[in-house]
Amino acid sequence: MSPTEPPNSTNIPDDGDLQLAPNGQLRHLLTMRGLDREQITELLDRSQTFVSEPGQAAVRSRALQGKTVANLFFEPSTRTRASFDLAAKRLGADVLNLDVNTSSRKKGESILDMIYTLEAMQVDAFVVRDAGSGIPGYIARHTNDNVSILNAGESDISHPTQALLDMLTIRQNKGRIEGLKVAIVGDIAHSRVARSASEALVTLGVGELRLVSPPDLAAEPGTVPDQARILYNLEEGLQDADVVMALRIQRERIGNLDGILGIDEYFATYGISHERMKLAAPDAIVMHPGPMNRGIEIESTLADSASSVITKQVRNGVAVRMAILSTVINTVDTR
Ligand code: NCD
Repeated sequence: MSPTEPPNSTNIPDDGDLQLAPNGQLRHLLTMRGLDREQITELLDRSQTFVSEPGQAAVRSRALQGKTVANLFFEPSTRTRASFDLAAKRLGADVLNLDVNTSSRKKGESILDMIYTLEAMQVDAFVVRDAGSGIPGYIARHTNDNVSILNAGESDISHPTQALLDMLTIRQNKGRIEGLKVAIVGDIAHSRVARSASEALVTLGVGELRLVSPPDLAAEPGTVPDQARILYNLEEGLQDADVVMALRIQRERIGNLDGILGIDEYFATYGISHERMKLAAPDAIVMHPGPMNRGIEIESTLADSASSVITKQVRNGVAVRMAILSTVINTVDTR
């Protein structure tokens, strides 16, 4: 790959090592791959210190005073973008939210030229969401030594901060990840959330990981950890599950929608409902990364029920992003 040529889907290098500084500390966050149990646990412990209960004032610090964080979202986002923005501000950083529709990337400027332009304005961390595979790692290979790259959603490949907030939410509710039965249900094939969550769950010692989907939307071999059980039957997937995570069908990533189940048929076969949750463990929790399609992948009243931790996931998203931002910027400062 030439230095100015962005990767395509056939030449994506593994970013696991790239995200660590020579001293082993996390300098970028690109993927859950390559992070061990201790590193993930440390990030979760740190995230927990930034969690405030509903009704309490948000946790704030001046840890990133004088630092600048740029949010570059080349794909739509509500939760991830807003939580990175709030996380950086609650740590005292200056935040640049670039409006991509008016950015010069639309005029043909390469992503690297755009990064170099912003580096010249002394940006310390770039938060990047892009539909292209390998883009966060590609930028990380070409940035200055004092800059960090945070992957906020990469094609269908990786969404590491979502995985961390999911792990934090499970840990808060179940006290552990080890030994749990976790079912992830929906469009596994196109879900970066499923991939990153699966990697984190396996590293943290999940008891049983079930990836449940229609056959057309099942994980391609080699894209999920070997320990995952690929299932097409929802009833089997939900049996005694401690954690059930519903996913949206990623229509924007599916080239040909022929053969994809219609809404009613999908809900009837793969929708998570109160009735179906009776198969799961009595104290099972229901998760969803959002945005949710009520009545398609999840019954609306279940999403608002006592077993749902969906709002908690959103709240934890800010805490996790505060932990990540302060970790990587601190690594750059202390190398
Ligand atoms: C997810 C994403 O963008 O990958 N949303 C999120 O970040 N909370 C899931 C989705 O879009 O369905």
